[in-house]
Amino acid sequence: MKIVFATNNAHKLSEVRAVLGEGFELVTLKEVGITEDIPETGSTLDENASIKSHYVYERTGLDCFADDTGLEVEALNGAPGVRSARYATDGHDFAANNRKLLHELEGVENRKARFRTVISLIRGGVEQRVEGIVNGTIATEESGCEGFGYDPLFIPEGKSVTFAEMSAEEKNAISHRGRAVEALVRIIKA
Ligand code: IMP
Repeated sequence: MKIVFATNNAHKLSEVRAVLGEGFELVTLKEVGITEDIPETGSTLDENASIKSHYVYERTGLDCFADDTGLEVEALNGAPGVRSARYATDGHDFAANNRKLLHELEGVENRKARFRTVISLIRGGVEQRVEGIVNGTIATEESGCEGFGYDPLFIPEGKSVTFAEMSAEEKNAISHRGRAVEALVRIIKA
């Protein structure tokens, strides 16, 4: 099955490709000629995922899906949430975001957080949404250099290392995006 994944993020692409497995040909935005940034103007993860999938569907008419992910920190009332990419600056400055998060949590005992991914799938013009969640805690310093984004600070529940200290397979098996993609596969195959 050929399907457009609304991303140009190489990390995400390889994570999703690994979870989807054989039988799916993933096409990127660049490959369908969408080179501009798709505006993420929604105020929730669901809205943004939906905006992105509709944008791709309207321009290409192809089956497609888009994801939106947020890190939700309990002591920060769910922040950075939908603003996770632009938490510290207007760009996707992962290092600055991590510094800001550590600063906001200085001296805070409750380090509970979760990653949540929403995927909006448009197939035959019909939209369906699924989500994936992983609970965990925010470390007091960065560790590891795998992955991207907040990975060096996020310790998933039941583990003693951050996502950035895990192999791609270990992360995919328990991550928010891995779980959302598994749910996506279930509805595609249903
Ligand atoms: P996006 O909506 O998937 O682009 O994610 C928004 C932001 O959340 C990214 O810019 C990253 O900072 C962060 N993020 C998303 N997925 C992950 C992940 O798997 N690990 C760490 N950070 C992530």
